[in-house]
Formats: sequence, structure tokens, C-alpha cells
Amino acid sequence: MAPRTLIATAREVLGRAYAPYSKFPVAAAVVDEDGRVFTGVNVENASYGLTMCAERVAIFTAIAAGAKKLRALALTSKTGGTLMPCGACRQVMAEFFEPSAPVYSDTGKDRYKTTSLRDLLPKAFGPDDL
Ligand code: THU
Repeated sequence: MAPRTLIATAREVLGRAYAPYSKFPVAAAVVDEDGRVFTGVNVENASYGLTMCAERVAIFTAIAAGAKKLRALALTSKTGGTLMPCGACRQVMAEFFEPSAPVYSDTGKDRYKTTSLRDLLPKAFGPDDL
């Protein structure tokens, strides 16, 4: 799937982010090995620490829908900065993505930055270590 298509899909759901506390909406889209696309947004909570990031919502939605392997992740927010997944999301990604899997970060104005899970979480602890 073209990176811009995955980013556009994430953008479509950005308005559903529930971010009344940080006022920092985030949306993510993931694609699985069959080309199916799943989205997520951040969902905050009055008990702040219970907040769930957009990436994990997208990943867990995919897995709950039967996806087994995920191939790429796209991320967007309203800021246009280069948003990267937090540490917890990187570890969750390591469970379902190959290290070479691309992560596309929407930087606005139809531009994006590409990195890989390997770059974001080198020497990851994962299922193969057990
Ligand atoms: N957040 C995400 O959803 N994904 C990220 O990659 C970084 C942070 C959310 C969590 C919280 O709701 C808000 O952004 C500010 O940290």
C-alpha cells in the first residue's frame, strides 16, 4: 500500500481522537499481510495514566479483527511535526511487525518521513526471545 494512502486513511479518523486533556489528537493506520487497513486514535481518560495511544488502538483493533502480521504503520497529528511512536507503542509494534516494517510519519503538506521499527527499537525484546 502506498504510504500516502495509509497516511490519508489515518487523517480521515483524526477527528475521532478523544484528547480533551492534552488537546493533542493523534491517529494511526496499520496495514496487515492481506492488505487490510485498520485505524486508531488516542483515547484519553480523566485518570490520565489510562490514556491509550493511537498506535496501540490501531494495532489492537487489527489483531482483534483477526490480523496476524502487520506490515506498515502511518501516524498523523494536527501539528505537522514529525511524530514518532512512544516507547510503549514501539514495544507493542515489535510483537506484530517485522523489524524492517516502515513507519510513516505525516509531516503535513503532503510530505512524510519514513523510518523503520528497527530504527525506532533496535535490539528489541520480542516473542523469539522466550
Ligand atoms: N500519543 C499518541 O497517541 N501517540 C503517540 O505517538 C504519542 C502520544 C497521545 C497520547 C496522549 O493522548 C497525547 O498523545 C499526548 O501525549
